[in-house]
This record gives sequence, structure tokens and C-alpha cells, in this order.
Amino acid sequence: MTTTDPAVPIIDVDPGPLIRLTIADCGAKVLHSAVQLDLFTALAAGPMDAGELAGATALHPRLAADFLDALAGLELLIREDGRYRNSPHAEAYLVQGRDTYLGGFIDLTNETLYGTWGRLTEALRTGEPQHLDPDKGGFVGNSHGDPEKMKRFLQGLDAFSDRMGAELARAIDWSGHRSFVDLGGARGNLAAVLVNRHPHLDAVCYDLPRTAPIFAEHVGRLGLADRIRFAAGDFFADPIPSADVIVLGHILHGFDAVQSRRLLARVYEAVRPGGAVLIYDRMIDDDRRDADRLLSSLHMRLVSRDGGEYRVADCRDWLRAEGFADGGHRPLLGTHTLVIGRSAGHEGES
Ligand SMILES: C[S@@+](CC[C@H](N)C(=O)[O-])C[C@H]1O[C@@H](n2cnc3c(N)ncnc32)[C@H](O)[C@@H]1O
Repeated sequence: MTTTDPAVPIIDVDPGPLIRLTIADCGAKVLHSAVQLDLFTALAAGPMDAGELAGATALHPRLAADFLDALAGLELLIREDGRYRNSPHAEAYLVQGRDTYLGGFIDLTNETLYGTWGRLTEALRTGEPQHLDPDKGGFVGNSHGDPEKMKRFLQGLDAFSDRMGAELARAIDWSGHRSFVDLGGARGNLAAVLVNRHPHLDAVCYDLPRTAPIFAEHVGRLGLADRIRFAAGDFFADPIPSADVIVLGHILHGFDAVQSRRLLARVYEAVRPGGAVLIYDRMIDDDRRDADRLLSSLHMRLVSRDGGEYRVADCRDWLRAEGFADGGHRPLLGTHTLVIGRSAGHEGES
């Protein structure tokens, strides 16, 4: 500690991290704008210098150099001998037309995140959700008014569920199970990955009736219409079909603890003896220290009245309270946590 005046202590702490955090949004916005300008797709054809890139993406020269070098600093571009190319991450996820393209998700995030998070202080004062009107571009993806944007958003999410499905396919010993229901399974993408990896599985995607057309279109396009059935219903009110395994991905974070337990009680009735429930979300670490998870939870509280992420220990407690035996938990994709609940008689998961 250093002091110039003993009455006014000046703490010798570097303000750098604080300043970087203060402008952390700027890095996100650089990514969002690069996706809007479709810069990474332009570079998929090969490296370009700043002038060529400016021409290809209508970038104004006054900002181009700083923008491109900032993208390189953020490890989205690689600059070599004055020419730019995509980094491996950009090449994998930010080039339009690829199955792994995340641009739809990034575009909608760009449109909606700033408006929503810009009202965090109001939310903190009032406790009220602050999400935008879905008809005016709100974040609540599945009620988005513009069908084209909705489709791009879902395509973006499928890039996640492709990966999630591949990890779930590996994480569980599916050889002992014959069937699964993906509860709130949206347009069936996760179910598609699972049946492709484990063709012996009987698959049902359960979602609200309004999801049926986008399910039929997507699963039809994947050539899996005869492999995955759609069951329409409200999982709080209508019967949940029986299965060996029931998957709840990004479901419980939309509800509070009472609603989550009510849903898990219904799921318990639907899981066959010897089966399991698989729950994944960006769950909060039990000690509540992981800032990314806590920010995701705040996000859910901003965009929904009852939602919020929950601790892994909370999820295990709910499962136990509703009759499931503890089947363990594990990280998923480095961003999520998978919690497994077993119904009576189950021998355990790998
Ligand atoms: C956040 S999305 C999760 C989609 C997918 N499981 C995933 O992990 O990406 C929530 C899904 O649950 C569905 N859903 C919400 N409430 C529901 C209800 N009461 N009954 C059935 N489905 C519901 C929505 O239509 C939506 O497809």
C-alpha cells in the first residue's frame, strides 16, 4: 500500500482488470458486427488483406484496420504478412452455409441482448423481467414473430444440440435402454443425433403443439420422419409418454423450484423402472462462484418471470425428493452440467 496523505490511503491495486471488465461488451459487439457483415464467410474463400476485405464486406476504411486487428486480438482472425484468415473457431462456427454455423444465434443475440441487459438496473430495482416484446425482436426464441429469424435462431441452436447430442450419446450406456423422450425437444435435433448414434432407440420428441410444424419440416429434411415421433402436449398438464430415458435439456432453467419439482414428479411417473432422467442446463456450481454460470442465471431472470439457473445440488435434491436415486453428474461441453437421476432398479450409468 502507498499513501501520499495518511488521511487518504491509495490502494496499490492495478485498475486494469476493472477497466477491461467495464468495456467487455465491446469485444462481444465486435464479434456480433463481424457476423452481421458476414466477414468470416468472405474469408472462407481464402486470406485477404484489409483492402480486399473492406471491398468484400463494405467495411469503411476509417475503422477497418482497428476492427480487423481487434478481431485478430480476440483470436477470431489470424493476421500474417498483412493478410487475414479465419481462426479455427471462426472457420468452424462462423461461416454461413456450414451445418455448424452459429451466426443465427449470434445475430439474434446482437439484436436483443443489449436492450435486455441495458435494463439490468431496472430489473435489479423492481425484480421485473425486462425482455423485449417478442413481436419487436425479443430474445424469447421460440415465440419469435419473424419465421425467417426464428429459423436462423433454431439453426444456431442446432449447432449446440449437435454437440450436446454427441456428448450425451457417449456419456450414457444406451445399450441397456430401448427408448427415450426428449421433453421440450423443440424441432427434434438432439433426438436426431441420438438415433443416428444409437439406431436401436425408439425416439419421441415432446413439445407444445405449436412446435409440430417446425419439427416435421426439420426431421423430414434429415430423413428421420419414420424414426422420431412427435408428441404434442403441455408437460405440466398432459400425459408424458413412458420411456426408459427422459431428457430435459434447457427446460428446468425456465421454471422456479416448485414448478421444477412438479415437473420432475410427473417425469418420475413416466420413466420406466430401471430407466433414467437426464437433465442438462448451465447449472450453477454449488459454491456459487462461477461467474459465467451466474451471468447465465441472471440472464434467465431478466428474460423470464420464474426462470433462473439452479445449483447442481438443488437439482440432485429435487430428484431425490421425487423418488429418483442419484445417478451422478458431469460437465457437458465445458459450458453445461448433466445430472442423472435413476429410477428404481437401475444399475448405474457409465
Ligand atoms: C429452451 S427450449 C429447449 C430446447 C431443447 N431441449 C434444447 O435443449 O435446446 C424449451 C423447449 O420447451 C418447450 N416447452 C416449453 N414449455 C413447454 C410445456 N409446458 N410443455 C411442452 N413443451 C414446452 C418449448 O416449446 C421449447 O421447445
